[in-house]
Amino acid sequence: MDTWDAIRSRRNVRSYADLSIPDDQLDRILEAGRRAPSSKNWQPWDFVLVNDRQQLAALSKVWRYARHVAGSAATIALVAAVQPEQGQEILQYDQGQATMSMMLAAADLGIGTGHSAVGDQALARRVLGLPEDRTCTYLMALGYPADRPLAPVQRPDRRPFDEVVHRGRW
Ligand SMILES: Cc1cc2nc3c(=O)[nH]c(=O)nc-3n(C[C@H](O)[C@H](O)[C@H](O)COP(=O)(O)O)c2cc1C
Repeated sequence: MDTWDAIRSRRNVRSYADLSIPDDQLDRILEAGRRAPSSKNWQPWDFVLVNDRQQLAALSKVWRYARHVAGSAATIALVAAVQPEQGQEILQYDQGQATMSMMLAAADLGIGTGHSAVGDQALARRVLGLPEDRTCTYLMALGYPADRPLAPVQRPDRRPFDEVVHRGRW
């Protein structure tokens, strides 16, 4: 898939085919995250790759809208320091960039992704074995879509282009 098609094809996928993802493809997705830009290149992230079925089932209980994690082929847990050097706002921005890079790398391979927030932090830390000074910020479930293969979304559910885009001045 070329980049433009990957951008247009990415959508939240929450239901996955019963197929595993080859290790080299998972590594490519993780490498896309590692290469993401960040403020002063501080790289405020670690990624925990989970593909054990029982661990995925446990992780899916960290948030009411994390149920899709249980059926994913693998899930990447994004991890950050509890007390980040540059503050939470920049941390969230930079982790968002890493997330999107990984999602596009996945879409390029025909792999669907589904975000999840983390509500029960204690449970997430237990399942992932995180040290005291680390927190799980988000989960990104991965898997080949159960419904239909990824393809450019023709009518995305988005605000109109001319409402969003301002040229020169507001
Ligand atoms: C910061 C953030 C948090 C999200 N949290 C969840 C979540 O907890 N569970 C979920 O199913 N989807 C979650 N989503 C997915 C959004 O609902 C989804 O991206 C949005 O509705 C747009 O749909 P699309 O990704 O298919 O374009 C989250 C997305 C973002 C960016």
